[in-house]
Amino acid sequence: MKVLSVASEIAPLIKTGGLADVAGALPAALKAQGVEMRTLVPGYPAVLDALGEGRQVITDGDLYGGPAQVVFGMAAGLELYVLDAAHLFYREGGPYAAPDGYDWWDNAERFAALCWMGARLCAEGQLHGWKPDVLQAHDWQGGLAPVYLQRMGAAHHTGSVMTIHNIAFTGSAGADMVHRLRLPMQGYNAGGYEFYGRISALKAGISYADKVNTVSPTYAKELTTEAFGMGFDGTLKYKGKDFTGILNGIDTDAWNPETDPNIATYKAPRAKTRAREALIAEMGLDSDGGPLCVVVSRLTEQKGLDLLLAALPRLIERGGQLALLGSGNPWLESQFLAAAGSHPGRVAVRIGYDEPLSHRIIAGGDAILVPSRFEPCGLTQLYGLRYGTVPVVAKTGGLADTVIPATVATTTAKVATGIQHAPDSVEALEDAIDTLCDLWADPKAYQQMQRNGMKFPVGWDTSAAAYAALFAEAAKHP
Ligand code: ADP
Ligand code: GLC
Repeated sequence: MKVLSVASEIAPLIKTGGLADVAGALPAALKAQGVEMRTLVPGYPAVLDALGEGRQVITDGDLYGGPAQVVFGMAAGLELYVLDAAHLFYREGGPYAAPDGYDWWDNAERFAALCWMGARLCAEGQLHGWKPDVLQAHDWQGGLAPVYLQRMGAAHHTGSVMTIHNIAFTGSAGADMVHRLRLPMQGYNAGGYEFYGRISALKAGISYADKVNTVSPTYAKELTTEAFGMGFDGTLKYKGKDFTGILNGIDTDAWNPETDPNIATYKAPRAKTRAREALIAEMGLDSDGGPLCVVVSRLTEQKGLDLLLAALPRLIERGGQLALLGSGNPWLESQFLAAAGSHPGRVAVRIGYDEPLSHRIIAGGDAILVPSRFEPCGLTQLYGLRYGTVPVVAKTGGLADTVIPATVATTTAKVATGIQHAPDSVEALEDAIDTLCDLWADPKAYQQMQRNGMKFPVGWDTSAAAYAALFAEAAKHP
């Protein structure tokens, strides 16, 4: 089985969030399932610069006013098709936004170009002897590929899977872009790619793909409700059994407390002390505090960190501390910096994106807080489980699926791995902080919970098998 994954970011080459981790991890995870996955990614500077020797030009042409070619090559162990179109992707700045923080003006065309090439590789696979059975489109940036497959007449031999990592990004473009984006006019309707009077690349993917999945079973259920579906609930409900949830895994080699080169390594929760002390020293926190709560996150509405700001006095009152690494919303950045200023030694904040620091923070913490309003899957609570850093999470999406909350029953049965609270409520978060501090006061019980978490399977094994099964269902000639 051959699968072409179409992704706008891929770890370790280019990453803004968990989508990159998943796109980067799936090829290796699926190999064991007999699935050969290659990934089509945009030719950002970081990707083109990483391509090794032996690159091969597969196809070329002209896309949206400039030359474009697809180059096949290897980088970081990944087999990549890179869309080398300098006028679209070879720019200073992020994958989606210019250095000034505003989205690129031509994002609709940029990712339409990526999808067009993805569909062409499937339609004309014989050009280079590798013909995908299935195309997997990630988020709105891959959403137009299933439409183009149909337009090119390739949908009868190439199956398609739309994977939703986050419903909040719809890939919206004005209705006047239909021809420019090479979309069939007859698809501009509620059953096609029309969404509230505009084009939505995400809606296109959902409507046209053979199968749709998201990244946890609970988020799949939530997405079919008005409260979480953000306008896509009806369309997703209509997909019926063709819409499912498959939980993300994490890279258990990169995130292994026994071998992590970024930290003072440890095997058992008790031996976390050195990593904890190192973090306290690095962040300038008091050494007598506890529990040391940590956060590694994009600072956005989704992540619910404004609720944490409101609940922070409770944490400090109970003797706790906070170490946060994140970036995003300027208001949240300034509020957290101000909190650090008002509580020296108790709250430490680093604004920015820093991979090695994220490892040190997750290893050094006693608990990791993820108070999201919605969370398709979430990866940092999984890192927390693996590192003996107890997850305190909102009961939503993948957070609900991956943390076994401490109750009398689960604690007695020695299976509790963390704490859950109702989402979007400061009071519920304060209660969770109280529960955490109560548990922390009983070191034996706390360590038991850490050990339970460290045993919880967070790798890709089960989910890779589920993806393999989904691809087999989507394939036209299995
Ligand atoms: P999302 O994709 O919604 O941002 P996830 O939890 O799925 O949330 O994935 C976020 C990924 O990005 C994790 O690998 C996390 O460690 C990483 N990350 C987020 N913010 C930062 C940061 N400021 N520095 C380093 N890594 C970060
Ligand atoms: C999205 C979601 C996150 C998920 C990630 C990878 O960015 O916000 O919950 O873990 O994609 O699927």
